[in-house]
Order: sequence, then C-alpha cells, then structure tokens
Amino acid sequence: MKAAVISLGSKSSLMLVESLKNYFDVVDNIHLKNIEVNLGKEGGIFYQGNKLDHYDCIYLKGSFRYAQLLRSIAAMLEGKIPYMPLPANAFTTIHNKLLTHLVLEQQHIPMPKTYISATTESAKELLVKVNFPIVMKFPEGTQGKGVMFADSKSSASSLLDALGALNQPFIIQEYVETGGTDIRALVVGDKVIAAMKRTAQKEEKRANLHAGGYGTPVQLTREVNKLAVDTAKALGVDICGVDILEGPLGPYVIEANISPGLQGLTKVSTIDLPDEIAQFLYTKTQQTLSQTAKEVTKDALREISVNRNPLGPQEIVTQLKFRGERILLPELVTKMTQFSDQKEYTFKAQKGKLEIEEI
Ligand SMILES: Nc1ncnc2c1ncn2[C@@H]1O[C@H](COP(=O)(O)OP(=O)(O)O)[C@@H](O)[C@H]1O
Ligand SMILES: [Mg+2]
Repeated sequence: MKAAVISLGSKSSLMLVESLKNYFDVVDNIHLKNIEVNLGKEGGIFYQGNKLDHYDCIYLKGSFRYAQLLRSIAAMLEGKIPYMPLPANAFTTIHNKLLTHLVLEQQHIPMPKTYISATTESAKELLVKVNFPIVMKFPEGTQGKGVMFADSKSSASSLLDALGALNQPFIIQEYVETGGTDIRALVVGDKVIAAMKRTAQKEEKRANLHAGGYGTPVQLTREVNKLAVDTAKALGVDICGVDILEGPLGPYVIEANISPGLQGLTKVSTIDLPDEIAQFLYTKTQQTLSQTAKEVTKDALREISVNRNPLGPQEIVTQLKFRGERILLPELVTKMTQFSDQKEYTFKAQKGKLEIEEI
C-alpha cells in the first residue's frame, strides 16, 4: 500500500513519515508548498508540476495560514483516496476557533462562555456584564500568539480599540481559572493516546509550550478523556489535539488542533506516538480497502440475484456510469424494462431521484 504525508516538513511530520515506512510499502514525504490545486477543466492536484500520484492513504498537515489550500486539496481528493483521517471541511473549521466553537456548541460540548460581536462598540457594551479577567482571541492563531487577557474594564476597553483599529475579527471569552494550566490530549481514532498538563511560566497566563509553558504527564479523568474523544468526533476527525481547561465548574474545551505537534507530548509519554499514529493509519487504510472490495462484490452479487428473479419491480444497487455528462444505465435495466428507441417516455427528474415511464 502507498501512503503520503503532505506537510510543511516539521519535525513531527518527518517522525511520522519514518514510522509509516514500517507499515506501508511506499511512503512519500510531500511538501505542501510544492502543491498546486487547479480547478475547472483538466483540473487536479499538481506536485512540482506533475499530477499527484494515487495513494491509498494521505495525511494532510499544515498551519492555519494554509487552511484554504489544505481544504482544497482534501476536497479534490475526497472519494478518490481510500483513506484520509481528516475531511476537507475540518481544515477551515478547526483552524478557526470561532467556527470550531460553533460546531462544539451544536454538539453540546462544554466550552467557556464565548462572545462575538459585529463592532467594537457592541463589544464594549458586553464589558458591562462580563466578569474579569476576560480573554480576547483572534479566531486564527496558534502557540498562544493570538490570545490576550484583560484584567479590568479599562484594559479591555483599550485592547478593543486596538483590535478595532486592526480591523481583525476576534472573540471574547470568559476566563477559566486553572492556575495557569491546561490539558493537551492527543486523540487518535476513538482513544486519547497521550496527554499532558501544561503549566504557564510565572507572570504568564498562556500554558502553550511555545509561550514558555512546560508539560508534565497527567492521568486524565474519565470525564476529560471522554470530552477529548467527543470533541474529535464532533469535528469529524480521526486525529487531532484537544486543549481543555479544567476549571472549577468542570472541563471546558478551548480549541482543537488539526496538526498537533508530537515533540512536546513525546517527552512526557512512554509510548512511541509516531508509531501509534502510523499503525492507526495503516489499519484504517486496510479496513477501508477491504470494505470497498466487499461492497463491490456485494453490488455485483445483488445484480446477479436480481437477474435470476426478474419478476416485479426490482431494486438494483450499483454505481452510475457516465459517458461525458450522459448517464449510462446497466444493460440489466434495459432487459428488465424492455425500453426501446421505438417508444416514447416521460422523465420525472429531481435532485437525487429519477423516474422513467413508458407513455
Ligand atoms: N478562556 C480561557 N481561560 C483561561 N485561560 C485561557 C483561556 N483561553 C485560553 N487560555 C490560555 O491561553 C492558552 C492559548 O489558548 P488557545 O485558545 O489554546 O489558543 P492557541 O491556539 O494560541 O493555543 C491556553 O493554552 C490557556 O493556557
Ligand atoms: Mg492551544
């Protein structure tokens, strides 16, 4: 089987490529910056000027700056590549904290109270009813870089003016007291395979490792474990990092990471994370391929069984074939209906349904 990792070539991605080689026959390490997506006639995905090869499994990774490109690549590959752990829409949703919160809200996943407003003025009106400190975030950003804290109405108000001048969208969130810690859980399939507690540096509220925080091993409670797995499920992804705040009122999800780093977690974990992910991707790909093979056989068998019993209306489950824009129906349909080019027919067509009847 053939696999590819399309990424920005981070250490985590390279570790994964190496582990994948222990499972797949061929593993290609493809740099995202060398990929081009062409839409329209003769469109497709091009890598260094050539059409991208076929793979049995593709794992796409990259930062929020590439969210649209990642989504485009995944959308073009969906239905063609047997297994991809991340659906196309997840790249734009998860790389945006507001869109993530909207999905989590629909799926009843607990999160801190979060506000969005159209203008700086209406955001300022909010400041009357919130408890301080509050958090302000750019929806897109990682490593703690787009996260700001305000201890009072006056500091929040001046931050809002600065954000207004930047003309950037932002969210306002209640501050969850955790003593400067958060939980990072790495979900693979329906399991948390590794987790750590991150603690912010002194005089710092952000627990990110890139903001000077440090990670320690942690045994997750069942509730937090389930919350992480439910979050991945709600977002429709098989692999992601989930950031959770364990506040006084229970655990809250603050974000998911679609391209989680493995280095920090590797330091506090006893298992070989790239190997665990590689094994998961291999098993899923194998399952998907054998499932597809089974379905094809089942369809063929169904067609045969219909053929043996041609009385009464029959249901045929099969894929449609096209010649250009025209639909080609199976020969069996011609036999059963006894349609001919000598007669006239009425077509009742609507989205997802077609009825043809002899006049
Ligand atoms: N609502 C909040 N209450 C308290 N701390 C928060 C809150 N939101 C974020 N933080 C702190 O800021 C850090 C970064 O926030 P997060 O939303 O995960 O953004 P990033 O994508 O930059 O990691 C978190 O790890 C946490 O320590
Ligand atoms: Mg985070």
